[in-house]
Amino acid sequence: MIDLLIRDARIAGSPDPAPVDLHVDGGVILEVVPATGEPAPAQVVIEARGALLCAPYVEPHIHLDSALTAGEPRWNESGTLWEGIACWSERKPMLTRQDVIDRAEEILRWQVANGVLFVRSHVDITDPKLEALDALLEVRDRVKDVVGLQIVAFPQEGICSFPDGDKLIEEAARRGVDVVGAIPHFEDTREDGVRSIEIAIDVALRYGLLVDAHCDEIDDEQSRFIEVLATQAMRTGLRERVTASHATAMGSYNAAYSYKLRRLLGRSGINLVCNPLVNLHLQGRFDGYPKRRGLLQAKEMLGAGVNIAFGHDDIMDPWYPLGTGNSIQVALVGAHATQLTAPSEVEECFRMVTDRAAATLCLGEGYGIAGGRPANFMLLPALSPFDAVRRQVRPSHVVARGRVVASSPPSAATLHWPGRAAESVDGVRSRDAAGATWRDRGDAAR
Ligand code: FE2
Repeated sequence: MIDLLIRDARIAGSPDPAPVDLHVDGGVILEVVPATGEPAPAQVVIEARGALLCAPYVEPHIHLDSALTAGEPRWNESGTLWEGIACWSERKPMLTRQDVIDRAEEILRWQVANGVLFVRSHVDITDPKLEALDALLEVRDRVKDVVGLQIVAFPQEGICSFPDGDKLIEEAARRGVDVVGAIPHFEDTREDGVRSIEIAIDVALRYGLLVDAHCDEIDDEQSRFIEVLATQAMRTGLRERVTASHATAMGSYNAAYSYKLRRLLGRSGINLVCNPLVNLHLQGRFDGYPKRRGLLQAKEMLGAGVNIAFGHDDIMDPWYPLGTGNSIQVALVGAHATQLTAPSEVEECFRMVTDRAAATLCLGEGYGIAGGRPANFMLLPALSPFDAVRRQVRPSHVVARGRVVASSPPSAATLHWPGRAAESVDGVRSRDAAGATWRDRGDAAR
């Protein structure tokens, strides 16, 4: 008898819409078989009734160490990145290990409830005590049976422009981070910015780590550190192990430079992470009208073959007062913000919080719905990824390492409309036609 049977599901993105059964045992997906035969005996059976079986959401960019500190000790009234950094530098002296652990774990619990099972979190290491770093390394271990957590050594106040910044990033690598960060546009000079990338790449090479730099998060068309990062990624062979996050200056680049950059990024193999919630909020604050959107060139870079993921970035901290840790919300806002709203583009936005984000984290065979892979997945009561994004569907079940870790009831309202019998309404376009269920109409909606 196997541990878990998912009965009668449809695999998201599969060209074959036929229902399947998923067999799970020992925390691993044993096999995916057509749902036509006798169901396999199992300890736990989940009747999917045609729901979408998806690999879990992957959060490629969040700051767990600062989450839930908005308003402490003061609010970011201007809404700029710079006042956010100033507020954070006032909050940092109050950090304790337990304070960071409690807030980080609260956000991770929100994320798991929403179907997020892999998270890359930056942690500010411009703190001589490295208090938050040690806390998040402990959290990574505490949550490992549910969430795969990658930690990025993030030099919020610079590597070259902060006292002993280079030593702190080296020490973070020695203590066991997964990824090395940088913030070249924040360094005092352009030369320091270039040097900071060289230092981050060097540390990553010596410790065998990934690289994820906050790169050009500024509305300055002269901020072009991404070309340095991409070139370094190519020359060192790190390539897809390197990510440029934010890259909002790209939204201000002229057409000629954008053309050159698309070619360079396409050849480099690096990943981009766009954070639409936070950068729509932070950027353009120094503009009159017309006011820039402050986002990277998502549609054009996808066209050039560059891998892009959507990240949440901040949750209720000095840089962003909102947020619920829900990747499907990020996909919806990202679709609007980047104008990726054709049906195939909305499906691409779903991939940007699932398999494209997994590629950014270099999860490889540790991610996906296939025999032999870890049993991490979710069931979405939706017609398609497009439908899931449009209706902001919450997973009915989230399974981590073969165990159900979250479940949610259906969210349909019961409507009492004058002159009509009470009916269930959840925004599914096909439900009201001749009483058809969303499952009956599933293929037609593809
Ligand atoms: Fe960030």
